[in-house]
Amino acid sequence: MMSITTTQIGSVSLPSYVFGASGPNCTTLEQLQIVGRSDAAAIMIKTCTLEYREGNPEPRYVEVPLGSINSMGYPNLGYKEYLRIIPILKEFKKPIIASLGVLKASEFPTLIEAFNTADVDFLELNFSCPNLTGKPQIGYDFEMTDSLLKELVPLIKKPFGIKLPPYFDPVHWEQAATIFKKYPIGALVCINSIGNTLIIDPETEQPLIKPKGGFGGLGGDFVKPVALANVRAFSQLLGDKMSIIGVGGIKSGMDAFEFLLCGADAVQIGTQFMKEGPECFGRIDRELAEILKRKGYKSIAEAKGKLKPL
Ligand code: DHB
Repeated sequence: MMSITTTQIGSVSLPSYVFGASGPNCTTLEQLQIVGRSDAAAIMIKTCTLEYREGNPEPRYVEVPLGSINSMGYPNLGYKEYLRIIPILKEFKKPIIASLGVLKASEFPTLIEAFNTADVDFLELNFSCPNLTGKPQIGYDFEMTDSLLKELVPLIKKPFGIKLPPYFDPVHWEQAATIFKKYPIGALVCINSIGNTLIIDPETEQPLIKPKGGFGGLGGDFVKPVALANVRAFSQLLGDKMSIIGVGGIKSGMDAFEFLLCGADAVQIGTQFMKEGPECFGRIDRELAEILKRKGYKSIAEAKGKLKPL
């Protein structure tokens, strides 16, 4: 039976509304097989770089009551290992999404060319890693974002999306949207963690995480209103041209429903996946399905973007 939460991101059909954010529990083959066996709508892979990376020293991910802070530093197996792993993941018969990341922008073409011929359904270009020292996030540099898209889009042979940092000013949403609408982008992924935040322990008088003097990306409950605003803003500016994927603080079907009302075509789970494990995907999707039925909505499309004015 087809589920009420079936959806689409760009041209790719998803069997349900909920899958993992690139980040938690999606680096090794074993972790990806666990996602494959779960009810996640897709298998999302950790952002990969040209070479294997150990990542930053630990502790580099810490949970607090309202969310999480991380400075992982791109730990991943290197893109060639993911090219080897991807065929093994096909047995799960769900869309596979690769996330591509760089230490310098000139590395993107090699990654794109390699994944063009890989058996993946969708590419997420990571324009928003906040944890590399001395590198501004691509998404916070609009000239760079535009020139990079201009260079890369002609190279990309797969449906693709871009993972964005949170923006906090309407002018930035408008400037970003003016750039994005020039390109055949399948989806915007809103939002990456709020970069370079600081959580400290006053008892020990130390930061919670070790890298970068304790500065790291914030996720979980803390960021949900920021994520909702970014989804809503881009949905209003570009929702007729591309899909919007919501991510940030989703723990329940009701959270997912809020993102749907704001215009999200699908949602990704980060902090809650770390906390709960792979059961979170099916649970959140089933809770969302119940809410839709109770409210009389017959599909994702029927409720999408239907936030009412006050
Ligand atoms: C890392 C964190 C991110 O938010 C991201 O987009 C990519 C990588 C990291 O530190 O591993």
